[in-house]
Amino acid sequence: MITSRRGFLRSLGCCAAAGVRLPLNGISTSAIFEPSAFKQSDGFIRLNSNENAYGPSTKVADVIKLSVGSANRYPRIEYNSLAERVADFHNVKPEHVLLGSGSTEILRMAAFAFLGGGKQLIQASPTFAAIEYYAGAATSEVISVRLTSAFAHDLDSMLARATAATTLVYICNPNNPTASLTPRKDLETFIGKLPASAFVIIDEAYHEYVGQSGMYASFIDQSLGDDRVIVTRSFSKVYGLAGLRLGYAVASPKVVQRMRKFATEDGINSVVIQAAAAALDDTEGVSDAVQRNRNDRQEFFNQAMARALKPIDSHANFVMLNTFHPAEGVIQDFRKNNILIGRHFPPMDTYIRVSLGRPDEMLAFWRAWDELPYPKNMMSH
Ligand SMILES: Cc1ncc(COP(=O)(O)O)c(C=O)c1O
Repeated sequence: MITSRRGFLRSLGCCAAAGVRLPLNGISTSAIFEPSAFKQSDGFIRLNSNENAYGPSTKVADVIKLSVGSANRYPRIEYNSLAERVADFHNVKPEHVLLGSGSTEILRMAAFAFLGGGKQLIQASPTFAAIEYYAGAATSEVISVRLTSAFAHDLDSMLARATAATTLVYICNPNNPTASLTPRKDLETFIGKLPASAFVIIDEAYHEYVGQSGMYASFIDQSLGDDRVIVTRSFSKVYGLAGLRLGYAVASPKVVQRMRKFATEDGINSVVIQAAAAALDDTEGVSDAVQRNRNDRQEFFNQAMARALKPIDSHANFVMLNTFHPAEGVIQDFRKNNILIGRHFPPMDTYIRVSLGRPDEMLAFWRAWDELPYPKNMMSH
């Protein structure tokens, strides 16, 4: 474990020497994590899944180690206590909370609870793909509406496609893969105009990274009081627990009951239940993770500007960037350098999505970028 600032700097080794700015501004040194304690055995630098490259806070990591002692027990009582803790966190009653094995499981439950033959899902394109897969499995039609030129959901066009058969609408805000926002007031108007048949998922997996923005307010923190709205959150991003799998929905008790029928029995493991409770308590750990991401994101934009690149403004822990070259080829070229970046997201065929990694990983990214054998900015086209 790295316990001192100097130890942390030493652990960064090559990148500190190469002059990369360190992401320490505003972060208390007491809560510095173990950034390189666990190396993936395949040697790839993973900038492809919008994970938290630094892992959970040290407080949460300690709880994970201790909670292994409960690995032999089914997590039944603990499920309820975590649902209560999440409810408390959001100032709602526990009946409003549904836990899932990642928010991916919540999306699956929603698809099977609200979709089926003859019913339709409306979503943006491109957006996070899980709900589309599950809608297909539930034999529903999926209507995908391209984002606007500002990379917001095209709510007018989505509304124009809605019919009495539309039973689910998926809004990802900030949107994955673009890291862009759809303005809150536009969403309120949109939801108000949707057919009464349509439930709306607001996926807030990247909520904590948004920070202060007049364009944004969480639909949990500022509820519309509309029983059709289902908000999803994840422990995989700012809390750094993607490998332990936990997400949740906040929705009306009736909606929670309807979705719960499709939950995996005992699907939430006892280790993550304890880790998540500790993560919610560790407000300093969360604010450090947010600050670190803000620094890393700023550094990404500095590096991009130095190369005359203009990434899409990011409100998350990843950035989307036009390469002016077929994305598949760029992805493969990074792979040859042992760097994994996000998949190709049609119809944005020349864009790549880069998850923010640690400074040494980003240094490797920019090195590989500079060696790509083709022009990569607008001026060269
Ligand atoms: C927008 C969005 N929603 C949900 C998820 C799934 O997260 P979880 O790990 O909680 O299943 C992701 C994962 O990348 C995501 O980007």
